[in-house]
Amino acid sequence: MSNGRNGRRSNIVDRSKSRSRSALWITAGITCVALIPAVAMSGNRRGGQTQLPTTVEDFFQPGTQPEPDPQQFHPIIDSQECRLCHGTYLGPQDHSEPWDAWVNSMMGQATRDPVWQAAVTIANQDARFSGELCIRCHAPGAWLAGRSASGSLDDLQEGTDFDGVTCHFCHRGVDPIASPENPAEDTQILADLLYPPQYLGNAKYVVDPDDVRRGPFDDITEDMNMHGVPIIVSAFHRESAICATCHDVSNPAYTYDEPNNKYVLNALNAGHPTHDPQDMMPEQRTYSEWANSLFAAGGVQFNDGRFGGNHPTGLMQSCQDCHMPDRFTGGCFAFEFPPFFPREDMPFHGFNGANTWVLGAVLEQYGPNTGMSQDSVDAARARNVDMLRAASDVEIAQLANQLQVRVINWSGHKLPTGYPEGRRLWVNVKFYDADENLIDERGLYDFAAAQLTENDTKVYQVKFGMDKNIAKSVGLPSGESFHLVLNNYIAMDNRIPPLGFTNTAFEAVQAEPVAYAYDDGQHWDDTLFAIPEGAARTVVTLYHQTTSRQYIEFLRDTNVTDSRGQIAYDLWVSQGKSAPVDMDMVQHDLAGDLLADTDDDGRVNIFDLLDVLRAWGPCSGPSICREDVTLDGEVNAFDLLAVLMSWSI
Ligand code: HEC
Ligand code: HEC
Ligand code: HEC
Ligand code: HEC
Ligand code: HEC
Repeated sequence: MSNGRNGRRSNIVDRSKSRSRSALWITAGITCVALIPAVAMSGNRRGGQTQLPTTVEDFFQPGTQPEPDPQQFHPIIDSQECRLCHGTYLGPQDHSEPWDAWVNSMMGQATRDPVWQAAVTIANQDARFSGELCIRCHAPGAWLAGRSASGSLDDLQEGTDFDGVTCHFCHRGVDPIASPENPAEDTQILADLLYPPQYLGNAKYVVDPDDVRRGPFDDITEDMNMHGVPIIVSAFHRESAICATCHDVSNPAYTYDEPNNKYVLNALNAGHPTHDPQDMMPEQRTYSEWANSLFAAGGVQFNDGRFGGNHPTGLMQSCQDCHMPDRFTGGCFAFEFPPFFPREDMPFHGFNGANTWVLGAVLEQYGPNTGMSQDSVDAARARNVDMLRAASDVEIAQLANQLQVRVINWSGHKLPTGYPEGRRLWVNVKFYDADENLIDERGLYDFAAAQLTENDTKVYQVKFGMDKNIAKSVGLPSGESFHLVLNNYIAMDNRIPPLGFTNTAFEAVQAEPVAYAYDDGQHWDDTLFAIPEGAARTVVTLYHQTTSRQYIEFLRDTNVTDSRGQIAYDLWVSQGKSAPVDMDMVQHDLAGDLLADTDDDGRVNIFDLLDVLRAWGPCSGPSICREDVTLDGEVNAFDLLAVLMSWSI
């Protein structure tokens, strides 16, 4: 091993120089706070708005810092080199090998992702140098190599810089929080850092400066390549904490102002005062949602094989349990030969989630050099659709002349979770008459125009906005917006919480419902739809969409810098406009209007109410179940409600 561990000094010296510079700025910054609009006016005016004059310092995060010198930091190796042994050995249709699975995942293509690229341009337009932070998560190889300082993607080099969240990056990852359980090597690396992270999340990652790899298994001590690269057994790689690094995202340009309960712009060029993500504007909280769910507190037992591949028990806990399901196969090309064997629990590297069209767009734009083919992209899309379908169940019940639609979240976090802009779920309800004519539809989606009728149904989503102060400094209207780095409040968040949800715990991680309410423990949501006259049957569909028309048009129309917005838009069109996916579809025959008239006297009144109370409890046959108005097998509060709602018809 040529790269000695003591060689990392220059990295540290560099940062300390810029630290002392910023110390001066902290003092200067105090006077700036009150003058934000004035300061902002000195920013560039382009495209009808003023750019926030932020600096790289404003987006600084502790953790390993960029180091282009290969003597100090072993460069991130291209995943193509891992492919030699960890890819393409199971046959073209399988895709189970780590490389083949990973290359067809959003993490494998995180840097080429045209939607991301278009969003980075907007971020840079809105706040100078903010692209620096985007690159840190979406192109960690390029960031560590020191090519992020301008925040612009134009400075990234062809090849490894576009390798996304790479094999080598993840497998050199060190637990950023000191713990006695960590290997001694990791403890030493943390101790050597000038800026130890102290908090999980927001790309405060720590990477071994040497090519020392880490993995979950204890039977392999050396990576079988020419240089004899050591492998450390790493518990961190089995924990959700490794995913927390990037799956909790915050905007460090803002600090929480507790007395006024709002997020305010920092003194510029000074860095965040605490570096605690809980003091920053929350953008994504997938890890924190999980950490405050039943999955983190013991796990959830699934007996229907919904998640986890051939997991031995079906008890789902970590992100890896669901997103890296176990497969019975080999982890390297030599798996059929001793000392290597096929493993029962080979973690599948497909990282399937919710994105149904962007891999296709990357293939269309960059071609087979990406390592993907139309077949492999189709297979990955099918896996993502399976994941979406596993995420939820829909149950419906008739409450007199209303239809109740319940959406139940079985995923390990909110449904939907992750990226806030343009992602959504909605309920579509169709009513048919006795002759099978469609007589009414709620939540209609026009597939050709990519337009959703939102006002007559429930849409599950999070909406961000810009308050008056910020809006004024940048010369944009305040209120709801897609300006990711300018947004400083959450206007609404009705995404469905996971199992084990409590309001207090979610508030503490800035993930509470906004302009909506869920009870503690509630991991479902109900919506009532009025049943139109003459309806005999209903079909209810839950849809998920990755990228809405509004969002992709925003990326196109707001861009005054380059063609990335137009490119993303054109790909969105040619890939089918992010066609919504049906996650669940259920149908139900509707009973006549007077179902709640339990004594059949032509009126729904006190006598029906008393009937319901008398028959309270489970019912076992149609003759004694006249009081089961909602036809759910039990006489209960829903039937009482149904009677009240149909009162005196
Ligand atoms: C996002 C981080 C991440 C990326 C990217 C990633 N891995 Fe992994 N890898 C993991 C984690 C986490 C585990 C352990 C999962 C578990 O035990 O549940 C793992 C396990 C493995 C294993 C052990 C399986 C075995 O049979 O020995 C191998 C090999 C491996 N990864 C290789 C790769 C290669 C090659 C790539 C790139 C093509 C890659 N990984 C990309 C996180 C990652
Ligand atoms: C010359 C062949 C070869 C190359 C190239 C190679 N590996 Fe491996 N690696 C292996 C073999 C063989 C194993 C053992 C696999 C097993 O038992 O499942 C392995 C195991 C691993 C493990 C699992 C460690 C554990 O114990 O959990 C990780 C992680 C890993 N390799 C990462 C990488 C990464 C990252 C690259 C590219 C930078 C890479 N490897 C390149 C041969 C190779
Ligand atoms: C270096 C940062 C980083 C780490 C570490 C990381 N991720 Fe990711 N992950 C990303 C980025 C960036 C994307 C989005 C790429 C895009 O959409 O352009 C992503 C996307 C995903 C997606 C796909 C989401 C979708 O919309 O389909 C899943 C699933 C996922 N990650 C799971 C994991 C898991 C599980 C781990 C831990 C083993 C992990 N990630 C670790 C950065 C990271
Ligand atoms: C019980 C299984 C389960 C666990 C545990 C789990 N997830 Fe998921 N995840 C899902 C399902 C199902 C989906 C698809 C539905 C959705 O988009 O929310 C999903 C979607 C995602 C997405 C894409 C979200 C979107 O809509 O763009 C990301 C990113 C993700 N998960 C990351 C994580 C991370 C990180 C963890 C751990 C902190 C984790 N997941 C834990 C099941 C799980
Ligand atoms: C701390 C890590 C992190 C940082 C920093 C970060 N992202 Fe992401 N980003 C993610 C993860 C994780 C996802 C995947 C979530 C999902 O799929 O739901 C993602 C997804 C996205 C997506 C959705 C891509 C798609 O194909 O739908 C866009 C757009 C995006 N990020 C833009 C940005 C911009 C712009 C910045 C900088 C201002 C940025 N991100 C900074 C982690 C990060």
